[in-house]
Amino acid sequence: MIKQLAIAATALSLSGGAVLAAGGAGEVEDYAFSFEGPFGTYDTMQLQRGLQVYTEVCAACHGLKHVAFRNLSDAGGPELPVDQMRAYAEFYEVFDEELDDFRPAGPTDHFPESSLENAPDLSLMAKGRAGFSGPYGTGISQLFNGMGGAEYIASLLVKYTGSEKEEAGTVLYGNDAYGGYFAMAQPLWGDDVEYQDGTEATIEQQAKDVAAFLMWTAEPKLNARKEAGFTAVAFLVVLSVLLYLTNKRIWAPVKRKVKGQPAE
Ligand code: HEC
Repeated sequence: MIKQLAIAATALSLSGGAVLAAGGAGEVEDYAFSFEGPFGTYDTMQLQRGLQVYTEVCAACHGLKHVAFRNLSDAGGPELPVDQMRAYAEFYEVFDEELDDFRPAGPTDHFPESSLENAPDLSLMAKGRAGFSGPYGTGISQLFNGMGGAEYIASLLVKYTGSEKEEAGTVLYGNDAYGGYFAMAQPLWGDDVEYQDGTEATIEQQAKDVAAFLMWTAEPKLNARKEAGFTAVAFLVVLSVLLYLTNKRIWAPVKRKVKGQPAE
C-alpha cells in the first residue's frame, strides 16, 4: 500500500514537473527571502519597492487581474496608507458598464489584464512556478531549500545570457533560469526605478523586490496562514499529550490484570 502510494506520488510530481517543462533545465538561484521558513513574514518595504518595479516596468506588458487595489492596504501586504492606495488606483482607468465610459479606478477595482497578448498574467505566477528549481524540478528543492516561485522569478530577471534568435517571426531571448529561449526581452537593466527608501536599484535588487511582491500577490495571506499553522501545531501538541495520558489511564486496569494483578 505504502509502496503504491509512493509510486503514485512520484508519478504525480514528475508529471507536474513535466507540465512546467517549457524549456530545458534552468538554473534557479537560491535567494534569501524574508518570508521563508516557518516564521518568515513579508518585508513591507520590500513589497512596496516590488510594487514600484511592477508598476514602472512589468505593467507595460503584464497584468495582475486577480489583485484588487484595496489589497495594497491589507495588513501583511505592501500596507499602503489608504489615501496613497486610492491615489495609486486612480492612475488606472477601467471601463464602467453603468457609465458606458472609462473612469479612474477605485479601491474595489482590479489591476488590468496583460496589455501584451502573449505576456501571461502575473497574479499567480509565483505559485504557478513554485515547483521550479529548473523546469524539470519536482518541488523537492522547494521543500528542502525553501526554493520556490519567487526564486525562479528573481533568477529569470537576472539570468539573461544576452543571446537572441528569431523563430517564426518572433525574437527569442536566451535565459539560463528559463533554461532556453523565450519571448520576454530583458526587462531590468539596473536603475530602472528610483527607490524612495534609498535602496540601490541594481538588477538583482529590483528582481528580488518584484519577485517578493509577486509572491505576495499569489499568496497574500501567507503571514496569517503561518500564524494559524503555528497555533494549530501548538494545539495538536497539547492534544497529543492529553490523549496519551488519557489512553494510559483507560488501559491501566487491563495492563495490571495482564501482569497478574487484580483490577481495581
Ligand atoms: C515588453 C513586454 C514585457 C515586459 C516589460 C515584461 N515582460 Fe515578462 N513576459 C513577457 C512575455 C511576452 C512573456 C512570455 C514569454 C514566453 O512565454 O515566451 C513574459 C513572461 C514572463 C514570465 C513567465 C516566464 C515563464 O516561466 O513562462 C514571468 C515570470 C515574467 N514575464 C515576469 C516579468 C516581470 C517580473 C517583469 C518586470 C520586471 C516583466 N516580466 C516585464 C513580456 C514582458
